[in-house]
Amino acid sequence: MKALLQAAKGLKPARTPLWLMRQAGRYLPEYREVRTKHDTLTMFQTPSIAAEITMQPLRRFDLDAAIIYADILLIPAALNLGLTFVTGEGPKFSRTIRSAEDLVWLQKQAENKAQIISKLNYVAETVDRTKAMLPAHASLIGFAGAPWTVASYMIEGGSAGGEFFESKLLMFKSPEVLHGLLSIITDITIDYLNMQVDAGAEILQLFESWGGALTPQQYAEFCAPYSAKILKALQPRVPVIHFVGEGAGILEEVLTVPTNVLGVDWRQDLSRVSKRTESLNIALQGNLDPLLLYAPQAEMEKQARKILEAGRAHKGGFIFNLGHGIRLTTPVERVGQLVDLVHSI
Ligand code: CP3
Repeated sequence: MKALLQAAKGLKPARTPLWLMRQAGRYLPEYREVRTKHDTLTMFQTPSIAAEITMQPLRRFDLDAAIIYADILLIPAALNLGLTFVTGEGPKFSRTIRSAEDLVWLQKQAENKAQIISKLNYVAETVDRTKAMLPAHASLIGFAGAPWTVASYMIEGGSAGGEFFESKLLMFKSPEVLHGLLSIITDITIDYLNMQVDAGAEILQLFESWGGALTPQQYAEFCAPYSAKILKALQPRVPVIHFVGEGAGILEEVLTVPTNVLGVDWRQDLSRVSKRTESLNIALQGNLDPLLLYAPQAEMEKQARKILEAGRAHKGGFIFNLGHGIRLTTPVERVGQLVDLVHSI
């Protein structure tokens, strides 16, 4: 069995498996080269391009997984929210969901689930094409955003910019509308991830990047039940990774969501999380601060070794990763040094 899948199932493979969140992307010159020729949405929606970009980091580095070049916002795009990517400004939606009327409109868009999934079929084709190019030891990761994280973009009309103003107002004023929105995203996400598994994805990651914007009580009400529904639906088929950004303050509530692997963000102490999860029979993934890739090599290596030691001491499996996505100006040679270090010890 491939090392990453072994670790996800709680085993200790001979070498520690490793991949990097957002590994296919802008820090790679060969990615920036492709990007000069196409707009971002076209790249996501063209399987030959998306599969090639998925493979780019694996051609440079000895990684244990490829993650499909796609985005958590492709579901709202398929729901006709009018997604565009504005250079330098990030994703933007031409329509937002902020009221009961908006929810009724969205329910109409979501009525024919099979049609939404068929609109997203290009992702299945990207999975299929990537699978054909993948080295034998590497696993293929499919993914989606967790409902709250995706909903925040649909409510704000783009990035929430740290405050989540509109999203929290909706939560306070019309929690039933927010619940309705989260239910729609949840149901489509289950079908969308099943589609990726049908196409050949071997493991799935659910990104709750903005879980840390919530109190434990809010997380318990607006995230945990929806993420649990998704992960429970997929777990009988493939192992799942649940990544939660800024997850320290909500760790107890996050642990109520069943997962094979917990993705730990860089703010948390991996040994402490390991201790807390000792009896739960879950693997851990993480959690090097992406900024350490800018540090002097010796400092990066020192901190990476600490994480490796904590991960190896963990009772369950361990997957080395960053504690959030790799940054766009990251020096490429540092990435190579990190991969070599992890595989050398
Ligand atoms: O970083 C995370 O928190 C991961 C979860 C996440 C993804 N997309 C997964 C992803 C989030 C929060 C997004 C939203 C999004 N989409 C943003 C962030 C905006 C913000 O609020 O900060 C952006 C810039 C996009 C658009 C996007 N997605 C681009 C331009 C790219 C290409 C790669 C790059 O870095 O420029 C992506 C790819 C993407 N988003 C992947 C994943 C898992 C593909 C796999 C990979 O890059 O390795």
